[in-house]
Amino acid sequence: MDDAISLGVGEPDFITPWHVREACIYSLESGITSYTSNKGMPELRDCISEYVVQDLGLDYDPEEQILVTTGVSEAIDLAFRATLNPGDEVIIPEPCYVAYTPDVMLAGGIAKSVPTKLQDEFKLRPEGVSSALSNKSKALLLSYPSNPTGRS
Ligand SMILES: Cc1ncc(COP(=O)(O)O)c(C=O)c1O
Repeated sequence: MDDAISLGVGEPDFITPWHVREACIYSLESGITSYTSNKGMPELRDCISEYVVQDLGLDYDPEEQILVTTGVSEAIDLAFRATLNPGDEVIIPEPCYVAYTPDVMLAGGIAKSVPTKLQDEFKLRPEGVSSALSNKSKALLLSYPSNPTGRS
């Protein structure tokens, strides 16, 4: 359909900035192609630590508390596998990114969706959360900003 809006996987609407592409090209040309630390290069973890302090006011130790992953999907997958026990429930506001429910299921959990509405500007309301709460609730997944609604 010509007028359909895809709510599937998002593709950035900009090209990766030149300085990033140039650094990748330089690395390949220089033969920097070996494995790095599984938790991410120390220099990168230091940069992330500085960024979250300056921009978000959060203090994380780059050696012990920051882990570099190949995208958000791996990070969410690891977080769920590390924290969920079989049957634990995760509350997920919807509409949401397509992989969240399967991520919960793959970790043995149960996704409990809470619908949000356009006429409510897709805000997550306390009553929505309470209606999904149970004694098996383990996590509330908040993406910031939301894809696809843009709600922050
Ligand atoms: C809200 C949200 N979560 C997770 C992802 C997955 O991110 P990644 O491609 O870094 O795994 C996306 C990708 O578009 C997203 O929009």
